[in-house]
Amino acid sequence: MIENTNFLANTYSRMPVTFVKGEGVWLWDDNGKKYLDMASGIAVCSLGHCHPAISKVVSDQLALLVHTSNLYWTLPQMELAMALCERSFAEQVFFCNSGTESVESALKLAKRRGNSLNGPDCYQIVCLENSFHGRTMGALSATCQPVYQRGFEPLVPGMTPVPAENKRALSLAVGSRTAAVILEPIQGEGGVRPVSDEYLRFARQLCDEFGALLIFDEVQVGIGRTGSFFAYEQTSVVPDVLCIAKALGNGLPIGAMLASKEVMSFLPQGSHASTFGGNPVVCQAAKEVVKLVSEPVFLAHVKETGQYLNSRLNEFAIKHPWLAQDVRGRGLIQAMELKQSDSGLAARLMTEGVMALVGHGKILRLVPPLVISKEHIDLFMEKLELVLK
Ligand SMILES: Cc1ncc(COP(=O)(O)O)c(C=O)c1O
Repeated sequence: MIENTNFLANTYSRMPVTFVKGEGVWLWDDNGKKYLDMASGIAVCSLGHCHPAISKVVSDQLALLVHTSNLYWTLPQMELAMALCERSFAEQVFFCNSGTESVESALKLAKRRGNSLNGPDCYQIVCLENSFHGRTMGALSATCQPVYQRGFEPLVPGMTPVPAENKRALSLAVGSRTAAVILEPIQGEGGVRPVSDEYLRFARQLCDEFGALLIFDEVQVGIGRTGSFFAYEQTSVVPDVLCIAKALGNGLPIGAMLASKEVMSFLPQGSHASTFGGNPVVCQAAKEVVKLVSEPVFLAHVKETGQYLNSRLNEFAIKHPWLAQDVRGRGLIQAMELKQSDSGLAARLMTEGVMALVGHGKILRLVPPLVISKEHIDLFMEKLELVLK
């Protein structure tokens, strides 16, 4: 590894490996060692590393037009917005560069709408405990995990955390001062915890009753990850605002906030902006992602391989009840919760040539490229057995 790490801010706990190449589900380090990627850059490279169709449209666009700012129109941005609206409840899109910015945009929209409709006291945002929405101040304030918030106080006022799945707590929290309820339909970073349909329906009902927005953060679980293009499609609830990012660019930085025309109208000209948001190069990549991930055979593959991964993990958990206590997930976001904290698990898997996420020391989170095959999953399970036993 090149010894120039001192020049980088020390905000990440990094593994001692430097990657130099990626292809499909594989990554190579600077010693030529090959790794099976079960993390896809934290649920980003869903079509696999360096997908040839994406590399092609990106390099074509790089030679044509890279950036104009949003003072003007560009074709890739308009086409991507149309493609996203065609596949969702939404009628308009605001583009930004990351997940946290898409959440930030949604919070600003909700506050501005609350203020316009119900006055300056309508700024409360109800959010779920154990959520993760990002690291900028607004998104961080809605991220109800003290470990991320500690030291950054005062947080943005008006955030009201409630325990997930507790309908009484939610009904006590939501009222006439509520601008929005924000939640992840499946909590990702918080340990892969799907929110029940019943709770989602109750949240929808309360938002309708009090005129608040229901915001779904699908930054981690949107764009095919669960086996449908958007995760909300597998629930009986349609949100008012949808936040997406991560896999939308397959590795190029893009985020988006989707809403109806009527809701989006509360962010009029000049109220919100992003210099790079909807840049033509990343929009070309995202257009290709939307096209490929929308294919019914592709989504069927995600469901099938997701079920296979889930059943292999369950088999393991049943065979080794002293090691694993729960397996959960939908599509190709799956988790196995360990009985005991194992802080060295990710490192031991790396030694065996497998990359995976281990959260809170105990939760093995698997978000592989969606192009993964059953043979890759078998290989992963072999390595997992080896390092856990
Ligand atoms: C559900 C969710 N929302 C928001 C974010 C923040 O996204 P980003 O890191 O792109 O800012 C994440 C990142 O993991 C996430 O999982």
